[in-house]
Amino acid sequence: MASPASSAPGGVAVVGSGLIGRSWAMLFASAGFKVKLYDIEQRQVTYALDSIRKEMKLLEQSGSLKGSLSAEEQLSLISSCSDIREAVEGALHVQECVPENLELKEQLFAQLDGIVGDQVVLSSSSSCLLPSRLFSGLVHVKQCLVAHPVNPPYYVPLVELVPHPETAPATVDRTYALMRKIGQSPVRLTKEVDGFALNRLQYAIISEAWRLVEEGVVSPGDLDLVMSDGLGMRYAFIGPLETMHLNAEGMLSYCDRYSEGMKHVLKTFGPIPEFSGAAAEKVHQAMCVKVPDDPEHLAARREWRDRCLMRLARLKSQLQPQ
Ligand code: NAI
Repeated sequence: MASPASSAPGGVAVVGSGLIGRSWAMLFASAGFKVKLYDIEQRQVTYALDSIRKEMKLLEQSGSLKGSLSAEEQLSLISSCSDIREAVEGALHVQECVPENLELKEQLFAQLDGIVGDQVVLSSSSSCLLPSRLFSGLVHVKQCLVAHPVNPPYYVPLVELVPHPETAPATVDRTYALMRKIGQSPVRLTKEVDGFALNRLQYAIISEAWRLVEEGVVSPGDLDLVMSDGLGMRYAFIGPLETMHLNAEGMLSYCDRYSEGMKHVLKTFGPIPEFSGAAAEKVHQAMCVKVPDDPEHLAARREWRDRCLMRLARLKSQLQPQ
């Protein structure tokens, strides 16, 4: 087993130690990177380090800890920092994880721009703020991009890499390689687009799900089963395009056979839902029958979801593609 000191290939600074910052810190440490965790709230970093310790120990006990280092070795790689300059000093990669607020992130990147050198990558975890809003006008804009993870990042490996129009290709390449090194599954968007790729797909699904329920075609519970016991079963292994390829004698054969039918159905799709009023009330009530919306029930269900995702991640790593 490699020792933490010999395996530390360079420093990473994680700015913001909430839900996503904690996950990034664990992922970087799992690959042997030294991590400096900075937060504007010192209490928050103390809490983050405590919860990372607890989570890593549990993961180790259940055999799910990532990487080849022990939990103690990984923990020794993560340190807290109360000064942003100190946090980013010597870092090769800065992963920003502050709340999704444009003004806050703009201020932070302006601050980082003034203190970093030419070698570091400045990466935002933003779910939906476009790089052109976050990084325009920065001296180090070539070194900036969005690396959008999926919650919970420790179990769901996808990371969307979204460049600013002026981001250097080398910045994307370096971040892509880093994400692979920490066991994540990066995808490159060649240009920014609202919602990036994941949320555009997710919103297309939510939109049609809502319309089907609003029109009374299917109940909210059954709608969710269409995904969890239907489409979702294969989507954990193959995407929609490969599904087309396999569901006929190749993609062209699928298009030949099914394109008219698809276009016919697509033309019947309704307008963008309002997500409010009676329909929202109906869906809310149905969801609360399954999972009451008090903090305890929601937390318990999230824990169950994360256990399922952890088992699925293990299964996927065992199943080699043919
Ligand atoms: P959070 O609210 O759990 O954590 C944010 C942390 O940033 C807090 O600890 C806060 O004290 C700290 N903070 C606030 N201002 C700061 C500053 N100026 N400097 C340093 N630290 C500061 O938020 P969460 O959920 O971790 O989200 C962080 C980012 O990750 C957001 O951009 C969000 O859109 C993105 N993201 C969130 C996902 C989620 O499901 N929660 C999924 C994917 C991305």
